Amino acid sequence: QAFFRPIHNTAPPSPTNRHTKISVIGAGNVGMAIAQTVLTQDLVDEIALVDAKPEKLRGEMLDLQHAAAFLPRTTILASSSDYAVTSGSDLVVVTAGARQIPGESRLNLLQRNVALFRSIIPQLAKHSPNAILMIVSNPVDILTYVAWKISGFPANRVIGSGTNLDSSRFRFLLADHLEVNAQDVQAYVVGEHGDGSVALWSSISVGGVPILSFLERQQIPYEEEMLESIRRTVVEGAYEVISLKGYTSWAIGYSVASLARTLLRDQRRIHPVTVLAKGFYGIDGGDVFLSLPAQLGRGGVVGVTNVHLTDEELRRLRASAETLLELQSQLGL
Ligand code: NAD
Ligand code: LAC
Repeated sequence: QAFFRPIHNTAPPSPTNRHTKISVIGAGNVGMAIAQTVLTQDLVDEIALVDAKPEKLRGEMLDLQHAAAFLPRTTILASSSDYAVTSGSDLVVVTAGARQIPGESRLNLLQRNVALFRSIIPQLAKHSPNAILMIVSNPVDILTYVAWKISGFPANRVIGSGTNLDSSRFRFLLADHLEVNAQDVQAYVVGEHGDGSVALWSSISVGGVPILSFLERQQIPYEEEMLESIRRTVVEGAYEVISLKGYTSWAIGYSVASLARTLLRDQRRIHPVTVLAKGFYGIDGGDVFLSLPAQLGRGGVVGVTNVHLTDEELRRLRASAETLLELQSQLGL
């Protein structure tokens, strides 16, 4: 109780019935980009941070708390050892773990990050049994499967950030090429986040104009080379950023904040994210997680959309599923 009170109370504080909490596990480049984007967008009442490095973690917590005068009112908590700090989270975002060094593939991180998940996920599930789990650590698709297996959560509450980021890179490059606003470009990248991703040319539309069928009808030869170079640039995008600045952070921060908004505010928007893909688009070989355009809401994954895929797109998507299934089967979960 403070002795000096600057306000003369005229009524007891009103009980608030809206309390929303996000926990971010891993306060590195990605975790902090997510935390700060979520904070500035006024998405939650409480953010809990967890990281294995206590000093770095406390430094990050204080640095954010010191911005209180410029931000919406949000409680910021942190603990390096006690997962009780995450109790009662609505959304838990996992970014902890090894990241790529320049030139290294995401899949190369698998063994190290699976070991980490075995220690982290049970504690998160124990303290927030009703949360939605959002996996960001790489390789994100297989780690989403690992988190689903270890947590015992229903599949609709275990989601990976997946190709929401690749799709944003795709939309940026298309917008740049077509000289339009990226927000007016609808276009999906699906499948495995990163190297095995599948760009859906048939999904591209700008302001309601379906680009490929428009070009076909106008008998304009496909700008095939241009499209292929955009696809390659999407796949190489992260490698380029990592070779230049050491890691990627801002785009994934905005990507996860947009997912958090859709989930926590029950926006029912469609995002390409990592979900249990079994039974969709002819993927039936097992419990594989990869990105498909999914409708998201307060309960997690509400549904998977039925986008028209060309035969070649379907073939690539199923090949991506086979690669991931093969790797999953070696984990012994
Ligand atoms: P980073 O090294 O900056 O941060 C990782 C943090 O995890 C570190 O602060 C470390 O102390 C912490 N950590 C390690 N073990 C822990 C444990 N047991 N408990 C709690 N914290 C622990 O790395 P980063 O650049 O933030 O990347 C994090 C992960 O996100 C990597 O796997 C990276 O590949 C991935 N990533 C994914 C995407 C995506 O689109 N899915 C995008 C960017 C990065
Ligand atoms: C990305 C990370 C490295 O930015 O997966 O795509």
